[in-house]
Amino acid sequence: MRIGVVHGPNLNLLGTREPGVYGGATLDDVNAGVATLAAELGVEVEFFHSNHEGGLVDHVQEAAGRVRGFVVNAGAYTHTSIALRDALAGVARPFVEVHLSNVFARERFRHRSYLAARAVGIVSGFGAESYRLGLRALVEHLRNEQES
Ligand code: DQA
Repeated sequence: MRIGVVHGPNLNLLGTREPGVYGGATLDDVNAGVATLAAELGVEVEFFHSNHEGGLVDHVQEAAGRVRGFVVNAGAYTHTSIALRDALAGVARPFVEVHLSNVFARERFRHRSYLAARAVGIVSGFGAESYRLGLRALVEHLRNEQES
């Protein structure tokens, strides 16, 4: 089973970007933690980052043929992008929405997600661990789906 991990805008700045909000881990650190868990779970993962909405849409469409689902941190596009929501819905691959910060404890504009209603679930507020929790939950969801 292969899972796509998708990082949206500004997540390439992790490590130096608002460390009080997002922690000190870099994007490579986050990916390394996810890769370690993936090996434990016996799944393959691939990583993608883009600062561009269209790049994320293209990637979701292109990767859908080889992945069973996605772990998605769409960054600020979470709160704005109907296009990304439609791409995820259009390829019909289950996905988990993740955020490093607890978006519901922050500004009001972060409380709305265009992706959430289409997600299997959301993990928000656990720093880099949000991705790992999201991966674990998604793999369990897909394995249960396979059995039923
Ligand atoms: C974020 C939360 C978003 O509101 C913000 O725009 C981000 C990061 C998070 O991981 O906490 O870029 O998705």
